[in-house]
Amino acid sequence: MLNGKVYIVTSPDLVNAVNRNSKNIAFNPFIAILGKRITDHDEDTSQIVQHNLNGENGPGYVMDVHDRTVASLAPGQDLQQTTKAMLSHISNYFNTLTTGVEINLFEWTRYTVTMCSTRALYGTENPFNRNSRFVESFCHTYANASFRDFDHALNLLIADVLPRLFVPKGYRARMELGAAFEQYFENFVPAQSAAMIRGRHSANTRYGITPLNQGRLEVGSLLGVLANTIPSIFYTLVHIYSDQGLTSDIRDELEASGFVGTPEDIRQNPNLLAMPETCPLLYSTWQEVLRVHALGAGSRYILQDVTLEDTFLLRKGMVVQMPTAVMHSDVAAWGEDVNEFQPRRFLKQNSTSKGGFKQKLTAYRPFGGGASMCPGRHFVTLETMALAACMLSRFDLIPVNGQWNIPRQKQESLATNVFPPEKDIRVRIVTRQGLGTSKR
Ligand code: HEM
Repeated sequence: MLNGKVYIVTSPDLVNAVNRNSKNIAFNPFIAILGKRITDHDEDTSQIVQHNLNGENGPGYVMDVHDRTVASLAPGQDLQQTTKAMLSHISNYFNTLTTGVEINLFEWTRYTVTMCSTRALYGTENPFNRNSRFVESFCHTYANASFRDFDHALNLLIADVLPRLFVPKGYRARMELGAAFEQYFENFVPAQSAAMIRGRHSANTRYGITPLNQGRLEVGSLLGVLANTIPSIFYTLVHIYSDQGLTSDIRDELEASGFVGTPEDIRQNPNLLAMPETCPLLYSTWQEVLRVHALGAGSRYILQDVTLEDTFLLRKGMVVQMPTAVMHSDVAAWGEDVNEFQPRRFLKQNSTSKGGFKQKLTAYRPFGGGASMCPGRHFVTLETMALAACMLSRFDLIPVNGQWNIPRQKQESLATNVFPPEKDIRVRIVTRQGLGTSKR
């Protein structure tokens, strides 16, 4: 299936038409094929995954899991609880940061986000937390290092040519993580996990997926949870801290909306779910980070011949690719400053005011679109905004080499939309005086 012809669609209007045709131009076949190559689940599990994959004859496993995931991550009580759980762990990773300490910012972000997100979703018994005795150095727990090795090897694992031989490190990491999650699901305590994981575990059990294969599938889900999230949060911090005016304006905004103080203060803010509305500049900056740094491509498989916009015939059996970077750099959609990082681009007044540029939001696809649009988008938005608020409240970051350079990205895997940086940035921590004030 993955060796057929590929249609490349870059026009926002046509991409919209692809979204509207999600029954015939489907995302789920990629979950079935790539998912098997990514997670290495067994044949019985493959049969369960493929049964009614696109809802052909009523409900099926993939549709069921999808619906549960969307419900558990939609704005509401479950999302609030998961975000609060994430925030409750951040203090642990701030305590080592005092004036004069130097960190590699990407490495620190990867470690902190991995540990806090997985604890929020899976509870304290998750493999990342349980294996903290394997701490190798400041930034690598055993499971964290395994996830990194797995993530780095992903393209070769997807190619699926004797992976044990050609990608031994990634292959071994996948096995180790899968086995650790198998153990987790064998001793599953629903009350300790987030709604998203409870929903998936309940569907897995209902459809007869064994703990061994639940563990393997979970390694694939971790990609959804972490792979795009970590570089996106890193670039958000870099763009904010590298622009003093922006740092100061966002601090003012955070102070005005009460998102200042310790991580616990920010966690207790009653408007946590409304952060995108109450902190519009920070939200606009986050959206711009994703416009500039989401460089992957959305993929769909054509189940039936379809004619788009009464003009373009797409043949059954072919693949559609929608490169995000092309749409995100389309001058017609974004204007002449398309190649500049404009943190205020997404502010309402800039998108609708007379004489201002009204961007085509159909050209904005960091989270894909249509029926398969990323269900984690609300969670990652809150995670990022809250983590940035915690950092800005407490620390200044000074690049050790004297100036901020925004590192280029390297494509690491076919399954991600936001690639990690080519180079890390070493920064020195300066603790800010007077928590909760934007003026030093
Ligand atoms: C900046 C961070 C993230 C980005 C850029 C991102 C992007 C994407 C994209 C592009 C897709 C494919 C959608 C399509 O082609 O229409 C997707 C799917 C998905 N994402 Fe995310 N994602 C992020 C974070 C997350 C998080 C934090 C979670 C979970 C907590 C998550 C869970 C998922 C799931 C479960 C799917 C599959 C959807 C389906 O089955 O229909 N993502 N994501």
